[in-house]
Amino acid sequence: MSLTAPRVGTAPGALPVLGHAWELRTRPLEFLAALPAHGDLVEIRLGPSPGYVVCAPELLRHVLADSRTFDKGGPFFDKARALFGDSLAMARWAQHRWQRRQLQPAFQTARIAGYAEVMGEEVARMTRSWRAGSTVGLVDALNALALRIVTRSVLAAAAEDRAVAEFQRSLPPAVEGLYRRTLTPVPLLHSLPTPGNLRYFRARRRIRRATDDVIRAQRAAPPDDGGLVSLLLSARHGEHDGPLSDADIRDQLIVMIGAGSDTTANALAFAYWLLAGHPAAEERLHQELDDVLKGRPARFDDLDSLPYTRSVVSETLRLYPPGWFFTRATTAETELAGRRLPSGTTVLYSPYILHRHPGLFPEPERFDPDRWLPERADGTPRGALVPFGGGSRKCIGEQFALTEMALALAGISARWALRPARGTRLTPRALGTLSPGPLSMVPRPRKEAPGHG
Ligand code: HEM
Repeated sequence: MSLTAPRVGTAPGALPVLGHAWELRTRPLEFLAALPAHGDLVEIRLGPSPGYVVCAPELLRHVLADSRTFDKGGPFFDKARALFGDSLAMARWAQHRWQRRQLQPAFQTARIAGYAEVMGEEVARMTRSWRAGSTVGLVDALNALALRIVTRSVLAAAAEDRAVAEFQRSLPPAVEGLYRRTLTPVPLLHSLPTPGNLRYFRARRRIRRATDDVIRAQRAAPPDDGGLVSLLLSARHGEHDGPLSDADIRDQLIVMIGAGSDTTANALAFAYWLLAGHPAAEERLHQELDDVLKGRPARFDDLDSLPYTRSVVSETLRLYPPGWFFTRATTAETELAGRRLPSGTTVLYSPYILHRHPGLFPEPERFDPDRWLPERADGTPRGALVPFGGGSRKCIGEQFALTEMALALAGISARWALRPARGTRLTPRALGTLSPGPLSMVPRPRKEAPGHG
């Protein structure tokens, strides 16, 4: 973006002891969105220690490309290991490569094309229970949808209703608890029997138990052709060449279920909120779906013919990236934007900051799916749209998530338009992921689309 030297600044308003932890806890999105005004790299205080927030795409590219120096670490990842162990999303550089190699086959394009069938079936299953004029708790419904999809497809485990219900019940308090622990810079407080801590410990215990049940069921089932549980059961540990322990397998599954469910669910919920408020965009989406699908269900190989549907997905992920805030810790002394960072420095990045930066996206607050049509998308600065991160730690589920979102939009919007129930407001909550808050939506059947007899 800039040809000039990057500017390093300091965020104002640090409190004694807490630093900016209070602002990050109480008004995180406003706090982050204001940071680029202070520089391309902005120093904040996390408790008494400094952290550096990356606010320019070229600096972020540097950080993400050098995942050995800017390794997973910092407050969120250190706390998250208590729930996700040393699994793929948490692993440090030295452990990451072999893990990624073991898990990647579950995300090959050919497999995603196969998962698309499960996605379509599950969307149809969800909408079957909708009635015109009834009220749907959209975020819960989409969470259940995403959990069933990831369990049945990536894990290739029988979608045990009990396990899915348990994940649905326990993941939100576990992830929320983790996030709150990140922002409490006094470790002693984490073990006190406060209601919040007890809720977190209970949720973590339940998730582990439900995941163990999935593994047990899969061990007893005939071997399948490469779902994640089977891949992990036959995987060999990088250096030792021994099988993975049950705890290692459990951690990998929990991270996939965690990272692969409320991210897509929240993004889809935001998409329906945005579409309800932008009738012209909704009409274009409906038109495209009617023209291309002519009333039949969407398949994986339809996605190339649904550019507007995919643009709605991209624009939603720009405005409301579910992964809104990540940390790294430097593993050696290094330099960033001309600032010397000692080993162990916390570096933070936020897709939300870049996606709402007026220097990167004209009228950044405006929902404008047309920005992503090929003729305009080329004007977007490289590295400015980063809902899935980048470099070697880029989301392993990117293609899966984009497919799921586009197919869900196609499956739902072919038949239904969703409108907020009376009194429903968007109340974005930035915790472990960015969510729209509870959204009560009313499904309205669209005028009969061709083929819907
Ligand atoms: C809209 C949906 C999604 C978004 C926005 C999203 C976002 C992200 C981001 C930003 C990262 C990088 C984090 C960092 O730099 O520290 C990431 C990593 C990851 N995501 Fe996703 N994700 C989504 C869906 C999924 C799905 C569906 C799965 C699995 C089924 C998944 C599994 C993972 C895993 C395992 C990692 C760690 C990868 C590694 O370190 O090698 N995500 N995701």
